[in-house]
Amino acid sequence: MDVDKLSIDPWSSTQSTDYSRIIQQFGLSDFNNLSLPNPSHLHRRGIIFAHRDLDLVLDAQKTGENFGVLTGLMPSGRMHLGHSMVIEQVKWFQNLGGDVTIAVADLESQATRGISLAKGRKIALQEYVSNYAALGLNPSLTNVYFQSSRAEVQRLGFQLGKRTNLSEFESIYGFRGDTNLAHVQAPMVQVGDILHPQIDEYGGLRPIVVPVGVDQDPHLRLTRGVASKSNWFNIKTNTGRGILIGLSVHDDNAELFGQQPNGRIDKSKVGEIFAKVVKRLTEIGFSDINSNPKQGTVIVPSATKRDMNKIRIELLKLERSLGGMGLLTPSSTYHHFAVGLTGQKMSSSKPKTTIFLDDDIQTITKKIKKAYSGGQSTIEEHRRLGGNPDIDVAYQYMMYFFEHDDKHLAEINSDYRNGKLLAGEMKQLCIDKATEWMENHIELRDQSQHLVDDFLADDSK
Ligand code: TRP
Repeated sequence: MDVDKLSIDPWSSTQSTDYSRIIQQFGLSDFNNLSLPNPSHLHRRGIIFAHRDLDLVLDAQKTGENFGVLTGLMPSGRMHLGHSMVIEQVKWFQNLGGDVTIAVADLESQATRGISLAKGRKIALQEYVSNYAALGLNPSLTNVYFQSSRAEVQRLGFQLGKRTNLSEFESIYGFRGDTNLAHVQAPMVQVGDILHPQIDEYGGLRPIVVPVGVDQDPHLRLTRGVASKSNWFNIKTNTGRGILIGLSVHDDNAELFGQQPNGRIDKSKVGEIFAKVVKRLTEIGFSDINSNPKQGTVIVPSATKRDMNKIRIELLKLERSLGGMGLLTPSSTYHHFAVGLTGQKMSSSKPKTTIFLDDDIQTITKKIKKAYSGGQSTIEEHRRLGGNPDIDVAYQYMMYFFEHDDKHLAEINSDYRNGKLLAGEMKQLCIDKATEWMENHIELRDQSQHLVDDFLADDSK
């Protein structure tokens, strides 16, 4: 095996934080060329650091078209601050007008953590959904469902199994011969989670963005792969110029695409399909179209890369009208992981590494006091050499969670670096902010407890 290759295991308790390598190796995009409306503190501070095809979603938002947000949670332990980052992102998209669906991965939790469906349900409601309104999600615009109760999710996952195989699972997840099959099925259910909001019953064809921690990217690679492999029309940039469209023949469209059982081509059927493609392209405003059914291509010379999404969506609509699934590859965004309080990875199973959303103020104070510090070992040295906010957990938690004022944060940062602010003082600032944040959160949560049920979709009440 190539030792230089990073692998991401979504179920592991360790996690690579070499984010620039992750971007490179897995082909994520950074935010350099995107301008975000109303960026949140997570965007402004580079904590949300990468995406796939987010422009698709931002374009829809700009032009007032529909887009959706889908994410999921694995109900296995208590909800902590790390989990709240995804909700922050969901909230941001919700405020921009996206419709929101949240999957409770109860099947996955059963398969990979041995948690029964009943227990998973209880954890999801008490630990997670009960915090959502307090974190700013709108219950009437958010649909929470359970994987085990949504047949469409399972059906899609099962059907799309046709577009992948064990070798791909081996290379994406490192699965082996002795991997339990329930564990193999879990990613296919997640594929169903991610793609199902596009089907008519759940809102129809529209861009869907999946905000997640980067540990979930393997699932996105899988999902994007199977979605695009299921498509009936291939769309790519043409080597000369413009955009080139080709047909992708599958079992379920072979007849329609003129492939006869005896191997011959029914030219009139091919002609009909090409005429339909040309008609759709004309309807969305293209006039110079080179249709060449014999070669199996349609070229739109004047179309630019930016037109690609428009063409793609129109041809997915055509595919649907002909009986195909017409699935758009999902977009995604990724956030950095906040370091654990102890300096190790944050984890629900190690309470000292994180702050739970139902920790009391006393516990929080104690945890922050013990947090890993970026200060020097004596006051004299600290004044002389300064501290390091990049590894100081108290500072990091203000940056990630508690201090939303950029100016104040920058001041603390420089005061710490030049030794003006001591490590103990940094911790006290963090305790004060955390206390304020948590008191507010507790109050909001108490006020919104009666709304928990409103978050649940009808099939999951
Ligand atoms: N696998 C995710 C986790 O471990 C949970 C999940 C299930 C999910 N379905 C999803 C996340 C769809 C994002 C999108 O936390």
